[in-house]
Amino acid sequence: MSLILVSDIRQKYLDFFRSHGHAIIPSAPLVPENDPSVLFNTAGMQPLIPYLLGERHPSGKRLADVQKCVRTGDIDDVGDNTHLTFFEMLGNWSLGDYFKKESIEMSWEFLTDKKWLALDPEMISVTVFEWDANAPRDEESAAIWKSIGMPGDRIAYLPAEDNWWAAGPTGPCGPDTEIFYWMGEGKPPDGSNVGTDPKKWMEIWNNVFMQYNRVDANTLNTLPAQCVDTGMGIERCAVTLNQYASVYETDSFAPVLQKIKEIVGESNYIERSARIIADHLRTAIHMISDGVTPKNVDQGYILRRLIRRAIREAYKMGYELPFTTIIADIYIEQFSGIYDSVANNAEKIRTELSTEEGKFSKTLKDGVREFEKIANGFKIAFERSGTKLTQIAGSKAFTLFDTYGFPLEMTVELANENNLTVDVDGFKLAFEKHQELSRTASAGKFVGGLGDTSPETTALHSACHLMLAGLREVLGTHVSQAGSNITAERLRFDFTHSEKMTPEQISAVEAYVNRAIESGLTVTISNMDKKIAQDTGVSGSFWEKYPDIVKVYSMVGVDQVVYSQELCGGPHVENSQGMGKFRIIKEESSSSGVRRIKAILER
Ligand code: ALA
Repeated sequence: MSLILVSDIRQKYLDFFRSHGHAIIPSAPLVPENDPSVLFNTAGMQPLIPYLLGERHPSGKRLADVQKCVRTGDIDDVGDNTHLTFFEMLGNWSLGDYFKKESIEMSWEFLTDKKWLALDPEMISVTVFEWDANAPRDEESAAIWKSIGMPGDRIAYLPAEDNWWAAGPTGPCGPDTEIFYWMGEGKPPDGSNVGTDPKKWMEIWNNVFMQYNRVDANTLNTLPAQCVDTGMGIERCAVTLNQYASVYETDSFAPVLQKIKEIVGESNYIERSARIIADHLRTAIHMISDGVTPKNVDQGYILRRLIRRAIREAYKMGYELPFTTIIADIYIEQFSGIYDSVANNAEKIRTELSTEEGKFSKTLKDGVREFEKIANGFKIAFERSGTKLTQIAGSKAFTLFDTYGFPLEMTVELANENNLTVDVDGFKLAFEKHQELSRTASAGKFVGGLGDTSPETTALHSACHLMLAGLREVLGTHVSQAGSNITAERLRFDFTHSEKMTPEQISAVEAYVNRAIESGLTVTISNMDKKIAQDTGVSGSFWEKYPDIVKVYSMVGVDQVVYSQELCGGPHVENSQGMGKFRIIKEESSSSGVRRIKAILER
């Protein structure tokens, strides 16, 4: 059998769905534009949520794409045969067009037809939704599978845990049918399916029948139209088609592992370390190409963790010279013809990587030495007094973070390698204390949407709070924050409201903010019981992401008027002096039921 390349699969998939009347849409950037509840897109459907909920898509009702995704939940498993932090999800959508029958039939044709992937139908089995209080047993999908030749005993009925798909606790969702390929020896025995041999079948494709919108734990509404959302991981597909043992054998990774071997030398080479480097740097180049830079918060923190972990894995193989851009170049070449973001940002990718590598390489060695000192101290204590210490104090983990640039997760990993643990809560306390002291309390990853903590950005962040209060006063209390992104130049703020604002409303909101600024307000922070804050009308989004004691920022004028009281992690101005004049420069639709404002402070 000749080998099938990842690039062939990508092309065939798009060609197939184009030939079935689908518009091919480009991948959205990795960082979601309007959904601050997740740091990265984790599935192909995420950027399409507004359209699944009923908004019209400009490209029509049949769409297909290859969406860049990042999932860091299983980051500790990276290095095994299947887990990756970055992957490309092949997806096709029906937005109120076809449903179960065509969806299943098209998947089957693409997988088994000689013209397309030509998989052996006997090696395939499927699952369908069993039943629960939300939806009936999916006999309809099972019947469609049977009608195209799937034997009844290759169809497993599984519960919601396996066959109900949703991107998050709320939003579009529905039962799915999943397609699996046999990874055992020879042909699968008669009667084998995912129910009987779960470990031997590998999932390759998921067809979700989006019919519901989960509003909260108790409310499941019907979507305006029945939709289809499918997802197939491209490397998994390549592994199946080529009968590989791991994703690292695919053409996405094999040249990279080869290069790492050359760099570190065959005798120093450790397969797991090389795999982690290959995975993490691939994710890093895509993050940077989509505008993320290494930082200690938000997406930037994940990026920093990935790059630093890759550097430590090289260090484990005895390699201490710069290498990240050599690996990046392989990926830049691989992806340049596929994603403009990579082609257009090649130089930026190299610069960000080498800057971060330069920073961390300086401290890594000393940090490892510091860590060893701590571990040795434990040993000595044990030898001298028989006291068995196994937990690294939070303050020590914080020193490793603050002085040596070790992300907490790296210290935990080092600790695990030495059969030790880390006082993670203690670390968080030390971290928070430090943040308070430096008055840049931008701690939680759900906080702010701030590009940086320059004085201009901070002032715009405070203006953002005043604006939300103004919007609630002018438009009503249904207004809440749906996302924000603030740079030194402007604020961008998404909020829930379904109509276009009139010029009068815009002026009224501007006037509210400017009145507050002119009132000479001061900003105070208080720690409040979350419940009390909620009950007393403090505004805030994502309450569930915050701890029981929350930080509330109050903006009170010298006239004692409370202009804004909002849950937040900061940073904010201390008072309104010098903030300038607030002006809304644009008000537009962002997505269904969400408006977007761009505003500036003129000084
Ligand atoms: N949204 C579905 C998934 O990610 C297709 O599995």
